[in-house]
Order: sequence, then structure tokens, then C-alpha cells
Amino acid sequence: MKAVVFTGWKHILNLAAIIRTADGLGFDEVIVLGRKKVKGKFCKKALKDWLEYKPKLIQLDTTNEIKKYLVKKNYSIVSMELDDEAIPLENFEWSKDVAILVGHENSGVPKDLRDISTKVMLNMKGEVKCMNVACDASIAMYDYHLKMEVT
Ligand SMILES: C[S@@+](CC[C@H](N)C(=O)[O-])C[C@H]1O[C@@H](n2cnc3c(N)ncnc32)[C@H](O)[C@@H]1O
Repeated sequence: MKAVVFTGWKHILNLAAIIRTADGLGFDEVIVLGRKKVKGKFCKKALKDWLEYKPKLIQLDTTNEIKKYLVKKNYSIVSMELDDEAIPLENFEWSKDVAILVGHENSGVPKDLRDISTKVMLNMKGEVKCMNVACDASIAMYDYHLKMEVT
């Protein structure tokens, strides 16, 4: 089983992009922290389309609920974060059952979830300090796909 966890979000198009990549790469679950009202015709239509995608969309209200859910399902928990302890993605070896956590556009992965995870980062080479969250999640999912599923 493989899941991607968006631990709080601001821009619905980032959530849309993450769900779309998760579907394209055969992820089983997209777990989202918080329930927000989706406003606007375009966003409502997009949400309706996403619900027809393969990954199960799970919305949980607190980081504690996310923690319990991931532990119960025996996921290996990986946070994508720029962190002093983080392992560069190119050196990281995935476990088969994995939950890939990415953080809110402003505040990152909440500390209590970060603390129970292995931290992995994408090395940055330019002026920009960090990646767009949907790009980051997509690169991580694709890296899992390349290392674990492409023979
Ligand atoms: C825009 S960043 C949030 C940055 C936030 N201001 C902070 O300081 O934590 C949103 C998310 O993208 C992911 N991300 C962005 N750049 C990354 C990188 N270079 N390596 C790993 N994850 C990254 C992380 O999951 C991060 O929480």
C-alpha cells in the first residue's frame, strides 16, 4: 500500500495536482488534514472528477487522527522536508508500504508528524528556497515508482 498525505493545504490546485499524480502512479490513498469547503464551479467540478480517480480520498481532522491511521495501517512514514536531519532523495531507499507526507504551503509538515517520520529532502540548487508542494510530492511519488516498481 502507498499513500500520500497532504498535512494541511491552502491552494486547491496543489491538492488537485497531488491527487492526479497519485492516481497516475497507482497510489492507493490520498490523506488530507482538515475539511475545507470547496467554493466555485470549477473547483466543485474538479473535486467531483477526483472522486472518480483510483486513490481513496480520506479527510481527517487532526494530526493525531492522521498519526493513529498511519500507525494502524503499518505505513513507513516519510516526511518530505528541508531539515538538517533529512536524507537527500537520491540516497533514500523506500519501504514497500509507505506514506509520503508533504506540508502546508506556509507552515510545512506539523511537528508532531515530522517527529514520527523519516525526513527526506530534495536538494535545491537555485535561488528558490523550497519547492512547490505539488511538484515536491510528485517528484517523491515518481522516485518511489522508479526505485520500487520499474524493473
Ligand atoms: C512551500 S513548502 C513549505 C515551507 C514552509 N514555509 C516551511 O518553512 O516549512 C511546502 C512543502 O513542500 C515540501 N518541500 C518543499 N521543498 C522541499 C524540499 N526541497 N525538500 C523536501 N520537501 C520540500 C515540504 O513537504 C513542505 O512542507
